[in-house]
Amino acid sequence: MVDNNMPKHVAVIMDGNGRWAKKKNIPRVMGHNAGMQAMKKIVIASSQIGIKYLTVYAFSTENWKRSSEEVGGIFNLLIKYVNSELKELNDNNVKVNSIGDYSLLPKSARNKLQDLIDSTKDNDGLIFNIAINYGGRAEIVRGVNNLIANGKSEITEEDIANSLYTGDELGNIPDPDLLIRTSGEERISNFLLWQCAYSEFVFTDVLWPDMDKEEFVRLINIYQSRNRRYGGRS
Ligand code: IPE
Ligand code: IPE
Ligand code: MG
Repeated sequence: MVDNNMPKHVAVIMDGNGRWAKKKNIPRVMGHNAGMQAMKKIVIASSQIGIKYLTVYAFSTENWKRSSEEVGGIFNLLIKYVNSELKELNDNNVKVNSIGDYSLLPKSARNKLQDLIDSTKDNDGLIFNIAINYGGRAEIVRGVNNLIANGKSEITEEDIANSLYTGDELGNIPDPDLLIRTSGEERISNFLLWQCAYSEFVFTDVLWPDMDKEEFVRLINIYQSRNRRYGGRS
C-alpha cells in the first residue's frame, strides 16, 4: 500500500447482507448481524491504516420499505453494536458522528446513538460517520430549506455544501475520495449525491459480511492506481 496516497475520506455502501444470509439459509437479520461484525473490523482497519474519515451507509430513507421485522432487527443491532463497541471505539480514539434524520428511529436506538456520539466526542482519531435514515436527496432538500429559512438568496455551491449534514454541523467533512460498494451492485442508491461529484468508485463482488481488512486494502490499492483529473488534464 502506498502510504502517501491514502484516501482521506472513504465512504462505503455496505451491501449484500440479505444475499449472504440467503446463501446460508438463515434469516436476513442474521446477515445484518454478520454485517455489523464486518463493520467493526473495517472501523478498526481504517483507523490502523490511517484513514481520517470513514462514512458508512447503514440505513437509507428507502429502507423503510422493508418488513417491520427486518427494520426493527437492524435498529436492535445498532443498540447491540453500541453496547459492545463503545469501549473499543474509545480505546482506538474513534469519534462517531451520525448523518441522516435519526429523529425517526425508535427511542431506544436514538438514545443509544446519542450516547455513542456524546461519549466519543473528544476523540481525535478516525472520524466514523454512520448514515442512518439517510438519503442524499432528502439531505439536499433539508439543507436548501434551512438556507431559505435563514433568509439566504443567491445560493452558492459553497452554501449548499455547508448546509449538508457533512457541512457546518460536522465541521466540514471533505468529500469522499473513494466510494466502495460491495455485493456486485454498481449504483449509488441515494448515498452522498452531492459529495461524490468527484469521488472514485470501486466495486467488489464480496458480500458485506465477508468483508475484511485484506479486501479493504485491496480496494484502496485500486483507488491508488487511479488517475484523478477533476475535469483537467493529467
Ligand atoms: C445491506 O444489505 C444492508 C442494508 C440495506 C440495511 P441488504 O439487506 O441490502 O442485502 P441484499 O442487498 O438484500 O443482499
Ligand atoms: C443501499 O443498499 C443502502 C444501504 C446499504 C444501507 P440497498 O440494498 O438498500 O440498495 P438498492 O435497493 O439495492 O439500490
Ligand atoms: Mg441491498
